[in-house]
Amino acid sequence: MTISGKAQIAGVFGWPIGHSRSPLIHNFWLDQLGIDGAYVPLAVAPDDFEQAVRALPALGFRGANVTIPHKQAALRIVDHLDPLAREVGAVNTLVVEEDGTITGSNTDVFGFAENLQVGGAVPMGGTAVVLGAGGAARAICVALREIGLAKLTVVNRTLAHAETLANTFARDSFSMAACAWEDLEKPLSEADVIVNTTSLGMAGAPPLEIDLAPAKSSALVNDIVYTPLQTPLLKAARARGLTTVDGLGMLLHQARPGFAAWFGQAPEVTDELRALVLKDLGS
Ligand code: ATR
Repeated sequence: MTISGKAQIAGVFGWPIGHSRSPLIHNFWLDQLGIDGAYVPLAVAPDDFEQAVRALPALGFRGANVTIPHKQAALRIVDHLDPLAREVGAVNTLVVEEDGTITGSNTDVFGFAENLQVGGAVPMGGTAVVLGAGGAARAICVALREIGLAKLTVVNRTLAHAETLANTFARDSFSMAACAWEDLEKPLSEADVIVNTTSLGMAGAPPLEIDLAPAKSSALVNDIVYTPLQTPLLKAARARGLTTVDGLGMLLHQARPGFAAWFGQAPEVTDELRALVLKDLGS
């Protein structure tokens, strides 16, 4: 890896930040593409976040990613806000423009859509079920709408949270409904795409226990949890013969637009990168 005095710099804001795999991903690409640059972790506490973002142009940074707990704060700080980020209510990518202003976007929408489409054909005008109604679910509802699905049901422990999403993201050509867990069977039986956005199934969390028996045999099942890669939901889906897409691809694909904007080259998600990140997750 080359880091000269002219190196282009980007990073990732978080608090804490030690768990982030973004430095591993971006520095892999910098190395692979032979770019004189670096991507660094930026451990910044909430009280210092705005000041730190404002310092990016002065420090010569090309931009940064933003992760927990700063994604909502970034929304208020940036000079220009991408419409999708405004809609999702969270910014995960900052780009320093030539005039020193900062643009905020949300590449989780892109990352989710790319990962899902790599996994299998998602029928235009199809139907989806999203499990969970938190921050991740917001980006995923927008992504499923942008992909071209026609109907989405959000299933959530707290029904009011699912109703908020349904009221926020529905459009004339994209109908949305909210549903309680106990009423899951009907939407599940109609779904072309089933996505878990909750933390259930993550290592250390309780498993996501749903009966996939009513699902269509053509349904595509995706879990955004990637630790473990094969979650109990994905295992159950495979046991039923359904097509599955794991969650690691969303993490990898969401990194692509930021990298391209900061460093000027479009990176690729390869098996080598997946293996590198998987090895790191296992350690
Ligand atoms: P994120 O930003 O990662 O999406 P979040 O905003 O905290 O995280 O959302 C977590 C989601 O997982 C919510 O939909 C939450 O349900 P509630 O809205 O009822 O809180 C869901 N969730 C978390 N733990 C859960 C559990 N034990 N059972 C069912 N749903 C759970």
